Amino acid sequence: MSGTTAVSGQVGRGAGPPASSVGSRLLSVGTALPDGVLTNADFEEMMATSDDWIRSRTGIGERRVGGTTTSLAIEAAAVALDRSGIDRELIDLVIVATQTPDDLCPSTAAGVQHGLGLTCGAFDLNAACAGFSYGLVVAHSMLGSSMRAAIVVGVDRMTAATNYEDRTTAILFGDGAGAVVMTAESTGGRGVQAWDTGTDGGHSDILRSPIKDGRVTGVEMNGKVLFKHMVRYACTSACRAVEQAGLCFDDVTAVLAHQANQRILDAVADRLKVDRGKFVSVIEHTGNTSAGSVPLALDAAVEDGRVRSGDAILLLGFGGGLSWASTVAIWQ
Ligand code: COA
Repeated sequence: MSGTTAVSGQVGRGAGPPASSVGSRLLSVGTALPDGVLTNADFEEMMATSDDWIRSRTGIGERRVGGTTTSLAIEAAAVALDRSGIDRELIDLVIVATQTPDDLCPSTAAGVQHGLGLTCGAFDLNAACAGFSYGLVVAHSMLGSSMRAAIVVGVDRMTAATNYEDRTTAILFGDGAGAVVMTAESTGGRGVQAWDTGTDGGHSDILRSPIKDGRVTGVEMNGKVLFKHMVRYACTSACRAVEQAGLCFDDVTAVLAHQANQRILDAVADRLKVDRGKFVSVIEHTGNTSAGSVPLALDAAVEDGRVRSGDAILLLGFGGGLSWASTVAIWQ
């Protein structure tokens, strides 16, 4: 396997399958995108930019805008729950990954729990664009210790946290949500095979969404430096998870990676010496939806038949923190 990169001493990480023989299985995925559309032509009206510049630097053509974080999360989770076919009484946990909650309290997960008529526990987590991927690892661990089923949602309303005076960041972000239903799995043949998580808090200043005087003022980022770190950490984490699963990249049918930028997806694929076509891309029509992007990519791949039951998939999130998380799973 190629592409493994040494990580510096300041990086914290965890990896593995769990000690317990009980694992988790990914049963279904659902998504939600708001109705509003913000095209590159709209940006040409708003600021000094061009469709050509945006497409060539990012691969983005349009983004979806609207809804609330809670409404998008409920919609995606409801679709996933419906597609899973399981009795909602079995859901013991709702995790919502988001960096753009409607309110700091109550959690978005509480709104999802109530909106779906569930009676289980629910909480939010924030690992920025890696949030959904962290949520998978947390749910996997909790399902391995007696919970029966869980819903993991990744959702962000990034347009509510975007500074439209900054043309470098404004063109990147969109709104969207995705969710999966996971169940406890004891056979080991299906579901989550391995995972890897990591954080490099020493580089947190490269990508920030600061709160000033109680207001989110927009994303601040050093795009070029971030690009290099993200490619390096994404490759390292992907290699660890695939190795830990006892697989090689040839065994992996599809990579569902964070949709930050088409050039990052291509760079990670090239560095891993994996066919670019294995990296599912929805970024042209969604932009960067942060925690929503990995399940949006998964849903697209399931819908168009690129991911089928029994396929090995790699789910790979990375972003602010800097944080990253990878999961290798046998789909359904
Ligand atoms: N339209 C036109 N020109 C723009 C522009 C826009 N929207 N935004 C910036 N520019 C200009 C800059 O002003 C600069 O002009 P100059 O050379 O005259 O100074 C030039 O384009 C290059 O700017 P730069 O910021 O260096 O661009 P870049 O090549 O690094 O591309 C990103 C910018 C954001 C697309 C790129 O850095 C990136 O994708 N980084 C990773 C971002 C990311 O993934 N973030 C989320 C992680 S979760």
